[in-house]
Amino acid sequence: MAIARSDAERRLAALVRAHDRWRGREVFNLLASENAVSPTARRFLASDLAGRYTLPLTMEFDGETLDNNYTGTRYTDQIEALANAAASRVFRARFATTRPLSGHIAALSALAPLVPPGAKILAIPPDAGGYDGYGPGFVPALLRYTVRPLPADGPGHRVRSEVAVETIRSERPSAVVLGQSFFLFPYPLREIAEAAHAVDALVLYDASHVLGLVAGGEFQDPLRDGADVVFGSTHKSFPGPQGGLLVTDREDLFRQLDPALVWRVFDNAHWHRIAALAQTLLELERCGRDYARAVVADAQQLGRALHGLGLPLVAAEDGFTRSHQLHIDRPALRAAHGIGAGALGRTLERQRLLIDLVGRIGTAEVARLGLGPDDMPRLADLLVRAGLRGERVGAEVLAWRRNFPALRYA
Ligand SMILES: Cc1ncc(COP(=O)(O)O)c(C=O)c1O
Repeated sequence: MAIARSDAERRLAALVRAHDRWRGREVFNLLASENAVSPTARRFLASDLAGRYTLPLTMEFDGETLDNNYTGTRYTDQIEALANAAASRVFRARFATTRPLSGHIAALSALAPLVPPGAKILAIPPDAGGYDGYGPGFVPALLRYTVRPLPADGPGHRVRSEVAVETIRSERPSAVVLGQSFFLFPYPLREIAEAAHAVDALVLYDASHVLGLVAGGEFQDPLRDGADVVFGSTHKSFPGPQGGLLVTDREDLFRQLDPALVWRVFDNAHWHRIAALAQTLLELERCGRDYARAVVADAQQLGRALHGLGLPLVAAEDGFTRSHQLHIDRPALRAAHGIGAGALGRTLERQRLLIDLVGRIGTAEVARLGLGPDDMPRLADLLVRAGLRGERVGAEVLAWRRNFPALRYA
């Protein structure tokens, strides 16, 4: 017997439909932390895998040797193997796991097994563009680390080679955690890795923001440049489902961390996510280079256009960015226009242009929609008219957005 839907269910379905229409078809999304998932990957997210378990661990139980806690997993386990193999190929890494549930969980997956409690780590402070999670009260508190600052300076929050090397030599940490939430420029990684390895410190590279660029051969190649482990979110510049992954060339480290993930950091790894992630990796194998190149070209062109129209951005002298991000020069914005990044973001949102409220603009999703560098002057014009002059450009944005109904590189 069919059960009638409740009012709450009807309302829920309407809300999801409204969200999908708005975010999927009626705005330009310039949030640096987000991306659009390919249609095939979305189908996999809604597959039967969404409710299943597998735990492919060899264990003794009640006098038997089991190779899994569950049955029914013959396809699930092959999907995971395929996902890990694709991650190894895309990141040119000997070992990969697609199990971490998010970028943050990927960080815990690397740190908890490899860096013992009580150890000292270096990380870029949040007020220098670092990830809040590496601030003293968060991951370091959870894992009982002492965290010391790895300096990043200037409005572009750049890590300088000499300062980093000097800090590593004087602090002698167990691990150097690289990666930022405000992430414009690559690191002098070879110098950092050489200094870190000389004091027996691991180099852990949090590529959450730039993972899609690294996959496509842009920004930098952390494993080749000396990082011991690379990990990050799979949904920022990497255009996959919400989740995380971790890669390394070092068998000794992988043997230590891979078996430690289950039951220490998580149990179930969410197999619909892993199928969708595998699909995204396979798509990037085919067109990841073109995608990553387009994202960075768009960001640099949008930077030039915005700056030319009077929206102050940092790092103009260095070409604004080498990533998918642009950073609003917040003090200059306040001085010239009397508003903060939060007020600017809310104003733009009302005109169907989404940036975050902390001053970052990202081009990953518009590149996926097919906007190229030639489209950036028009996008900049809309952003400036809406954000700085208070013009109501929402209808114009909507009409233009309709020209980009499908995702490219998918
Ligand atoms: C550098 C960095 N690492 C980790 C994370 C956490 O990522 P997730 O939301 O995937 O857990 C973020 C989130 O913004 C980040 O910027």
